[in-house]
Amino acid sequence: MNDSDSHDPRHLLSARRDAFFGRAAALGLRPDPRWFWYHTIDLGRGLITPGSFDYRDVLARYGFPDRLDGKRALDVGAASGFFSLALAARGASVTACEVPGFADWDHFPGEAPGSVVEKIRGLLVHHTLWSQAEVDHLFAGADAALLHDLLLEQPFAFACRASGLPVRRLRASWRTLDRALTGEPRFDLVLLADVLPHVVDPLAALAAVATWCGDRLVVAQELWGAPEDPPLLRYIGGDQPGQDVAEWWRPTFAWFAQVLAKLGFREIRLWDRFETRVFPAGHRQPKTVIQARR
Ligand SMILES: C[S@@+](CC[C@H](N)C(=O)[O-])C[C@H]1O[C@@H](n2cnc3c(N)ncnc32)[C@H](O)[C@@H]1O
Repeated sequence: MNDSDSHDPRHLLSARRDAFFGRAAALGLRPDPRWFWYHTIDLGRGLITPGSFDYRDVLARYGFPDRLDGKRALDVGAASGFFSLALAARGASVTACEVPGFADWDHFPGEAPGSVVEKIRGLLVHHTLWSQAEVDHLFAGADAALLHDLLLEQPFAFACRASGLPVRRLRASWRTLDRALTGEPRFDLVLLADVLPHVVDPLAALAAVATWCGDRLVVAQELWGAPEDPPLLRYIGGDQPGQDVAEWWRPTFAWFAQVLAKLGFREIRLWDRFETRVFPAGHRQPKTVIQARR
């Protein structure tokens, strides 16, 4: 690889993928090449997953306490588990919640439950090294349950096993989380990262997730406008059926600040703002971290 290649996101991801499979083989591990790595995760022993989102350099900007020993943390929409494992590494007892299947994602009114599968099919070429033909081949050879396993469940389980960090997996959406599942009335830290954009009613979802938070809520996602803008929830879903990428809303910071205050939080702070690069597509995604305390 030459110098300019090392800055090219496709080459970088390709090098990371080769290194991952090489190292896994050396360790006697057999990750499935059909797995989708949402996150780049350093699992230790030189094993680093080739993910579309690499938050390793910006983790400090989420403002998690250095140590969380004795604390219970809930990661809502954990995907392949970067944040769950980061919280477990700080000593927290972590519950990682992920939807049981694609039908549990929100869908735009009038669209079919599970319509997100088609949207993900279109998105994967921007988030993996697979061509559209390879993605289509994968989708043609697997039903929705197997696809969900390959894209979400199995990589997460592998990451937990390989890292040796105990994380409890709960198969639930923000709607179906209940006490019988969690076994806990509340968590000391709740993380809601990049889930609300995929929710049709973000006010209901934020309120539901907030009920699980006993102390610190960390929200991270793209916001609309400037921090001083009024409390707005901007619709971004377009006017054509199927046009959106299962994202409908961009709130302003003031929307979060007012809603979280009304939900009983205090010390609501815009913690940090930064950009992350999406692999292998290369575009930058703005991210705002908000912290709120009970
Ligand atoms: C954009 S990813 C964000 C992953 C991770 N939280 C992060 O910030 O890197 C959105 C995640 O939310 C999950 N998700 C989608 N709808 C959900 C719902 N209704 N309840 C809980 N999680 C959901 C998806 O399966 C996916 O793992």
